[in-house]
Amino acid sequence: MKIAIYPGSFDPITLGHMDIIRRAAACFDKVYVCVMVNAEKKNPMFTAEERLELIRKSVAGIPNVEAELWCGLLADYAVEKGSRVLVKGLRNATDFDQEYQMAAINKGLCADLETVFLSASAPYQHFSSTMIREMIRYRQPMEKYVPAPVAEELAKRR
Ligand code: PNS
Repeated sequence: MKIAIYPGSFDPITLGHMDIIRRAAACFDKVYVCVMVNAEKKNPMFTAEERLELIRKSVAGIPNVEAELWCGLLADYAVEKGSRVLVKGLRNATDFDQEYQMAAINKGLCADLETVFLSASAPYQHFSSTMIREMIRYRQPMEKYVPAPVAEELAKRR
């Protein structure tokens, strides 16, 4: 059984993330979406529990995908899940520089751990949770940026 982990802060999950999840789910038997705390991102818009709930609703139709929260090191989560594959999405050279470094750190923590990069599909190359939070603040229609459960939650909060 090939198990992959797709980690991130997902504040909130976007259609770009969903695209990577669907493509990873087509390559692996099981994909765990791991909601993590990024120590560099201080003021999240959604709590970790809210982010998890929104991901669970968004991936409900993909049978081999599950979402969980993890507050420790990603490498420890991978060991706990019996996975040796981390999936990361790459949009541009800035992502590459950061992700290449993180892949090396994770390999240093767990020598068996491989990081597999999926390049962002063209319609989502400019998507980021940061940009989407900005659109939320300016009350823009959200359907073209986020999965329906997130758009519905935002509509309720308006
Ligand atoms: O969506 P993000 O914020 O770019 O995701 C970054 C994340 C959460 C995957 C990264 O910060 C992370 O792996 N944090 C967990 C702590 C850890 O394992 N650090 C070592 C690898 S850098």
